[in-house]
Order: sequence, then structure tokens, then C-alpha cells
Amino acid sequence: MKTINILAISGSLRPNSSNNAIINVMAGMAPGNVIITTYQSLATLPHFNPDLDNDMPPTSVTAFRTQLKNADAVLICTPEYAFGVPGSLKNALDWTVSSSDFVDKPVALITASSQGGHAHTSLLLTLGAISAKIDDNAKLLISFIRSKVNSAGQITDPELLKELQKVLAALISSV
Ligand SMILES: Cc1cc2nc3c(=O)[nH]c(=O)nc-3n(C[C@H](O)[C@H](O)[C@H](O)COP(=O)(O)O)c2cc1C
Repeated sequence: MKTINILAISGSLRPNSSNNAIINVMAGMAPGNVIITTYQSLATLPHFNPDLDNDMPPTSVTAFRTQLKNADAVLICTPEYAFGVPGSLKNALDWTVSSSDFVDKPVALITASSQGGHAHTSLLLTLGAISAKIDDNAKLLISFIRSKVNSAGQITDPELLKELQKVLAALISSV
């Protein structure tokens, strides 16, 4: 069976993040031919600057774009901050506008937050602007996330586990 590489991007920089926990749980439930790797350098990507977005962009930006190019699909899992998208995540997406790395790329968007609706809607707009391919079943808004993940990073809500399975299946089938 063909190997499918999924690049996961967490919008939370906290080591004990519930969004990181969701990515780890999804990596654990993935079929044997599906590899989910988490992007590790969100915190150190430079701030987006169109004047640096030229033939010689910062090395870390080139590395990020290469990981996106090499991925068959992308899983974004993020909280909402102050009714918006976490700045570090939006910053990373801004670096991909000119490089077109998301054009027709299968993407799953999970917004896991206390509420999260504003960030979810806003991210869907941004992902539309960069022409990402998102199946309806690959979009999931999870509110009250802290009550559904325990301190060991396990999902304690059986319904949520089923929903995560559905998102992963939709993402895999859109590759
Ligand atoms: C500064 C700050 C602002 C926040 N603003 C929002 C918000 O606007 N909407 C929301 O749903 N949650 C908000 N939260 C709560 C986060 O969604 C919650 O802490 C979530 O668990 C963070 O995700 P993580 O566990 O993956 O880090 C905020 C948290 C912080 C620290």
C-alpha cells in the first residue's frame, strides 16, 4: 500500500497542549501506511515580511516549504486566542501564499479550544485564500477541549475519538 505522509501543524506552542495531544492520538490511530510527523519549528519561523519573500528567503522558511511540498496532506490542529488564529500559525500560513504550497493540498482543520468558532471560521477563509483542498468531513470544531483531554494527553470523550477517526479518514481519502 502507498505510504501517505501527513505533516501536522499545531497552533499551540505549549508542550502539554491539548492540540498536540490530539495530533498524537491521531498519529496513534493512523493505519500502518500513514505517517504523521509534527512540524517542530513554528516558534522560530521569522515574522512574515514580503520584502524577505524573494528568491532567497530565510533558511527556516525554505525548510518549512520543503516539508509542505513533501507532505501528501496537512493536518492543522489549533486553539483560538483572543477570538482569533494564534499569531504563530497565521504567520506560518502567510509564508505559503507566494510559494503556493497549499494549492490543492489535502488539509484537515481541527480547532480545539474553549470555544474556537472565530479562529475556525477565520482559518477556513485563509485556507480558501491559499487554495487548500478541504473535505467537509475534514473540518472539526471542538469546544471545551480541556474537559475532553486528560493530563496524560489521552482523549477522555469517546464521541470525540470517533470524530477524530472520521477527520483522519476524510483526510486520507482526499489524498
Ligand atoms: C491568552 C489566551 C487567550 C485565549 N483566548 C481564547 C479565545 O478567544 N477563545 C477560546 O476558545 N479560547 C481561548 N483561550 C483558551 C484556549 O483555547 C485554551 O487554553 C486551549 O486549551 C489552548 O490550547 P492548547 O491546550 O492546545 O494549548 C485563550 C487562552 C489564552 C492563554
